[in-house]
Formats: sequence, structure tokens, C-alpha cells
Amino acid sequence: MADFRLNHEGTGMLFTERLILRKFMISDTYDMYNNWAADKEVAKYTLWKVNESISETRSILEDWCMRYDSSQYYHWAIVFKENKQVIGSISISGINNCLKSCNVGYTLGRGYWNLGIATEVLKAVINFMVNTVGIQKIYAYHDIQNPASGRVMQKCGMEFIKRKKKIFLSGSRPFIDCDYYCFSTK
Ligand SMILES: CC(C)(COP(=O)(O)OP(=O)(O)OC[C@H]1O[C@@H](n2cnc3c(N)ncnc32)[C@H](O)[C@@H]1OP(=O)(O)O)[C@@H](O)C(=O)NCCC(=O)NCCS
Repeated sequence: MADFRLNHEGTGMLFTERLILRKFMISDTYDMYNNWAADKEVAKYTLWKVNESISETRSILEDWCMRYDSSQYYHWAIVFKENKQVIGSISISGINNCLKSCNVGYTLGRGYWNLGIATEVLKAVINFMVNTVGIQKIYAYHDIQNPASGRVMQKCGMEFIKRKKKIFLSGSRPFIDCDYYCFSTK
């Protein structure tokens, strides 16, 4: 009988032309704080809140690093090969093993925007989740005031599903309008 289960491998290393995707380490605290976590502009349209101190960033990283024991935890640090800095993150959430679906979210430091980097990263992660793990649908959404993120989704072959009005996401900007996208293998 055929085996229809997903082939979970956890956060392994992925390589693209300009980037290395790998597990976060506690020693990434400085890069994460300086490149994106303390930047209000980067956090403007994200679920996470801007970090107030480097110790806050460190404790977030401690939490993330503990989760790598699970083979169903996918959360990559994005390393820019040129300068070896950690410049952002990309993660998978909401895995549904029966429907073979999940969500994806990403963040990049402001100094690295509009260079095609998020597109390069998302393509690599979609490829891994589909061809190695066996995921069939990958969902993502973005605040409609953040069209650059939607453009990344489009460039990665995700298709627009619908606009959802005034959904509740977080305490700081509770009700926002979002566009939903999906990458589907069928
Ligand atoms: C959204 C984000 C990930 C994009 O990363 P990036 O590496 O700059 O993305 P890319 O360079 O691959 O592609 C960006 C695209 O958006 C376009 N774009 C940029 N600003 C735009 C704007 N204000 N309106 C419309 N399109 C815009 C770019 O022109 C480019 O499209 P093109 O290649 O067709 O010209 C990055 O800005 C980011 O991390 N922002 C903060 C966190 C965030 O918003 N995360 C996503 C939450 S849903």
C-alpha cells in the first residue's frame, strides 16, 4: 500500500545562489537585533512586535532554538553569503498533516529589500516543502498596505485566493485587510 504521510525532516540547510538557509543559533542575536528585529519599519506589517532590547531578541532565539528538536519545526535563518550576516527569517506554521498544507511567513532586514532576496528564499522553501516534505498547498497572506510581500508571492507562483476584510491578527493593529495566496501542486 502506498504511504501518503508527509516526510518531515525539520529545518535542514538549503542553498541558493546568494543565500544559505540554516537553523538559527543563539550567536545570531546581534545580527537579528541589528538587521530587523529592532526596526519599526520592518515590523510594521508583521505579527511579531519590534524588539525593545537585545536581551529580548536573545530570549526569542532561545525559544526558537529549543524547538528544533521537532522534525515538524521549520524555521530558517537567512544568511547572505556575501557578508555572512543573518539578514532575515522564513518559517512554516499551521502544518496540516492530513490536508498536506501549511502557511509560510518571512521577514528581511530593510537594508536588503528590493534585491529579489525574499523571492529567492521563498522559491527555495516552497521547493523543499513540496518536493522533499510532500506538502501540496502552501498559504500566505499579507496586509494590503504591504504590496511588496504580495509581489513576492506572485513571483513564486502563488495564486491570489481572496481579500479578507478586517481580520483579527494582533493587539497592536487588530483589524486589518489581508490578501490570501496559495501555492498548489494541483
Ligand atoms: C516584504 C519583503 C519580504 C519583500 O522582500 P524583498 O526581498 O524586498 O522582495 P523582492 O525583492 O524579492 O521582491 C519585491 C517586489 O515588490 C515590489 N515592491 C516593492 N515595494 C513595493 C510597493 N510599495 N508596491 C508595490 N510593489 C513593491 C518590488 O518592485 C519587487 O517586485 P519586482 O521584482 O516585480 O520589481 C520585505 O520587504 C520585508 O521583509 N518586509 C518586512 C516584513 C514583511 O512585511 N514580511 C512579510 C509579511 S506578509
